[in-house]
Amino acid sequence: MKVRRAVFPVAGRGTRMLPATKALPKVLLPVVDRPLIQVGVEEVVAAGVNEVVLVTASGQQAIEDHFDAVPLLEATLAAERKQDLLEAVRQATELATVMSVRQHEPRGLADAVLAAAPLVGDEPFVVVLPDDMICGAVPCTRQLLDVATAHNAGVIALQRVPRAETDRYGIVATEPVGAGERPPGAGVLHRIVDLVEKPDPAEAPSTLAIVGRYVLPPRIFPLIEQTPPGYGGEIQLPDALRLLLAEQPLYGYEFTGRRFDCGQLLGHLQANVSMALDRPDIGPAFAAFLRETLAAMAAGNATGASKEQA
Ligand code: UTP
Repeated sequence: MKVRRAVFPVAGRGTRMLPATKALPKVLLPVVDRPLIQVGVEEVVAAGVNEVVLVTASGQQAIEDHFDAVPLLEATLAAERKQDLLEAVRQATELATVMSVRQHEPRGLADAVLAAAPLVGDEPFVVVLPDDMICGAVPCTRQLLDVATAHNAGVIALQRVPRAETDRYGIVATEPVGAGERPPGAGVLHRIVDLVEKPDPAEAPSTLAIVGRYVLPPRIFPLIEQTPPGYGGEIQLPDALRLLLAEQPLYGYEFTGRRFDCGQLLGHLQANVSMALDRPDIGPAFAAFLRETLAAMAAGNATGASKEQA
């Protein structure tokens, strides 16, 4: 299956990260020194998808600007012989072909995906929610593309969550796949039989949650148009996927890799700590700082920040 385009619906309100997201789009929050959106675009490029469609909202011009050239800054960095910084600035510009389209009102994730239809056309495509940051040896998008190609069908990334948390996710009901259907990767393949948006833990059909990576056929676009507003009054992607499921098989894939929910405070902090520790330039010094901080806490001493407040 040839997939050329990845859609990044980033037009949500980002209320869980307020006040940081009062004037700054959520996907421009940094993980160490790269904004979330760049981490997501790097993932799809590593998976072989080089054309990106951003679905943005009014006031989010800065997301598009992040992938644009900045000739004055680049000339200054070149004149000052700051080669590393110059390369870092240019990297975001040269990474992929980036297009954008607007979602005029935040009417839900499925509505944002539909806004990308004119730029995707009649081809299968990837959807990435970059606030779900996923790290691993094989990009999550690549893992899904391999399953989609093997089965010539849509695929959704899945992750097991505690039952108490099912009301924070789309949850799928599944049936086992035959041995011959299993893909070569280390993840677990499921055939999806139903999808429910944010079910109560007592009613959830499983604890397999939909996370922010999908490979979808273009047929989803007219089906989104037929999807009425659902949970929260928004047009929900699981509701549209249910209509798709009535027409064609849909797979779920428990990918390998570690996911950080950067759409909420704790997940964003965890992503920063994990990525900082992995960096050869700052990782060792940061690890030493964390060890000292934890040792001071264990000894009953306040950290620097809480000392100042005391
Ligand atoms: P979220 O559920 O994280 O919502 O959306 P949100 O608005 O971004 O954040 P909170 O809940 O207010 O904190 C999941 C993804 O769908 C996009 C978001 O930008 C995010 O990438 N989305 C959601 C849209 O693009 N448009 C929408 O109308 C809703």
